[in-house]
Amino acid sequence: MTATHDPVRVWHRLADTSVLLDGFHALKHAVRFQARIPVAVTIDRGAALALAEELATDVRDALEKLLVEVPEATFKALVPRPHPTAVAALAVRPARAANLETLARTPRPAPVVVLDNPRNLGNAGAVIRLAAGFGATGVVTTGTLDPWHPTVVRGGAGLHFATAVERLAVAELPPGPVFALDPEGEDIRGVKLPDEAVLAFGSERSGLSAELRDRTDHLVSLPMRPQVSSYNLATSVAMTLFHWSATGGGAASAEGSGTVPGGPDIRPA
Ligand SMILES: C[S@@+](CC[C@H](N)C(=O)[O-])C[C@H]1O[C@@H](n2cnc3c(N)ncnc32)[C@H](O)[C@@H]1O
Repeated sequence: MTATHDPVRVWHRLADTSVLLDGFHALKHAVRFQARIPVAVTIDRGAALALAEELATDVRDALEKLLVEVPEATFKALVPRPHPTAVAALAVRPARAANLETLARTPRPAPVVVLDNPRNLGNAGAVIRLAAGFGATGVVTTGTLDPWHPTVVRGGAGLHFATAVERLAVAELPPGPVFALDPEGEDIRGVKLPDEAVLAFGSERSGLSAELRDRTDHLVSLPMRPQVSSYNLATSVAMTLFHWSATGGGAASAEGSGTVPGGPDIRPA
């Protein structure tokens, strides 16, 4: 091992400015979606590669090049709450300018999801995972929650690299018709959500903000029995993206969105 590739030194140099990929599945997804990963460590390289052999043969070779085994004590010093798979890595956060360009580009192949002032980090992570799964163009949050917070990244299972994730003010939202979800809206079952839609969801505490309502073109509701006040934020996003896909949305992209041509980028730091 050369000094420049000493994983512990590289880790300490980059930790403050990088995205922590905590666990095998987060690393697997980040590799698949071409995250730049300068350093990846494990306490048992053989076990990690066996897991890749069993669950993700497409990334096995990339992981073989990336993963460096370190003693358990070293691993625990780098990662305070180690994942049971004992794999961790640091990834370079995608450039904001590139994400903003992706979000602004029209026509777009799939909607942008907007979370208006979300409060719960777990919800935000679950929504990013959903957006990645449905091939959404991106996830934008308004308000103070950082969508790249380590807890959100953990909840997103490394899928922040599969969709454009940024925080913006309501006034800066991407172009496109805003379909805002609210129990008072028109029943979604009679609505066709276009691929260029901006799908907006309110805060867990207070719903849609006045500012977001001002930008709204269509207020849409999810079917819900009387006496039930609302659904959880992430499940609302799930139903809405499912409705978009089940009514012909993203016809060209859904099947092909699981793989990225060109293979993983595993340049060392
Ligand atoms: C937990 S709910 C917010 C509840 C909040 N107490 C309120 O006053 O609206 C979070 C978000 O999920 C979406 N949502 C939940 N249930 C919905 C429904 N039945 N129809 C449409 N959107 C819904 C809305 O965007 C809502 O702002």
